[in-house]
Amino acid sequence: MKNILEVQDVKKYFPIKTNIFSFSNFGKKNYKKALDGVSLLIAEGRVSVLVGESGSGKTTLARIILRAIDPDSGSIIFNGSNITKKTGRELRDFRKQAQMIHQDPYSSLNPIMKVFDIIKEPIDIFYKNYSKEERTEKILTVLEEVNLKPSTEFAEKYPHMLSGGERQRVAIARSLVIEPKLIIADEPVSMLDVSIRAQILQIVKQLSVNRKITIFYITHDLTTSRYIGDEISVMYAGKIVESGSIDKVLSNPLHPYTQALLDAVSEPKFENIDKEKIIRIKNFDSVATERGCNFFNRCPYSMDICKKEPKLERKEQNHNVSCFLHDTI
Ligand SMILES: Nc1ncnc2c1ncn2[C@@H]1O[C@H](COP(=O)(O)OP(=O)(O)O)[C@@H](O)[C@H]1O
Ligand SMILES: [Mg+2]
Repeated sequence: MKNILEVQDVKKYFPIKTNIFSFSNFGKKNYKKALDGVSLLIAEGRVSVLVGESGSGKTTLARIILRAIDPDSGSIIFNGSNITKKTGRELRDFRKQAQMIHQDPYSSLNPIMKVFDIIKEPIDIFYKNYSKEERTEKILTVLEEVNLKPSTEFAEKYPHMLSGGERQRVAIARSLVIEPKLIIADEPVSMLDVSIRAQILQIVKQLSVNRKITIFYITHDLTTSRYIGDEISVMYAGKIVESGSIDKVLSNPLHPYTQALLDAVSEPKFENIDKEKIIRIKNFDSVATERGCNFFNRCPYSMDICKKEPKLERKEQNHNVSCFLHDTI
């Protein structure tokens, strides 16, 4: 299987403003390690899920992949070429192939434009040679593909006339119209009504099945990922702690954090673990440790060796984990 995207050891630290009058911080620079050495592979034509709680660095990674912001270090390889340093025409070529669907369908569409013009905009940028008729046909076709029918009626509407779900469909149509190879969907249903989430996910899934578009689906919610995904990477505090085929990872989670995420949606299965430790794992406010395993402070199994930094290692075919509990030595 070919990988369309490779993220190689990407780091992004954001400076934290500290109180200059505080002596303990004097002369010290503080950083939020949003991404602390993230590596992952995304197979072509598949749905890869990135799951992790709020603040774990998911959106930062998406923005770096799409060159909205630069990483401090590391590389992004798209279709075999390093896009981190690309400029001008090469960057434009890449942008034509990779699109993003945002979390908030209310702020991602220009309120003063009709749906027709919202979808036409990327065609005007990337397919200047298209005739007026070709543009119209493309726009109506993608509207139908996301089930906004009759398409001619929806094309004439303004965003405020649409529901959240319909707006998100427009956003999908807009990303689809330039025929990208990769779509990054950053929590595309988290702001939508629970009752319509499945329909939107179904549309996203169909893009990979029918059009062979690679989908990178970002979520904090494991329940939706099981439905849509082929592969999964679990992120905790700027690091990938577990990855592999979604069936293997969810049926046999190896990292205590993945287990905790699964327990949040099912019955806890930490047998032989005292209550205090279970409370600790659920305490979402604990800060990551400076060195060693990022999950150390929350992990019910933390050991001395965990003060060293674990590496993401292969445990079985298509199943990797970064945890000393599973060290073979
Ligand atoms: N531009 C920025 N400046 C400073 N801190 C940022 C910036 N963007 C994100 N962060 C911080 O980086 C961490 C990861 O954020 P984000 O990637 O948005 O997480 P997620 O999408 O998983 O919720 C958070 O602690 C966030 O506050
Ligand atoms: Mg986010």
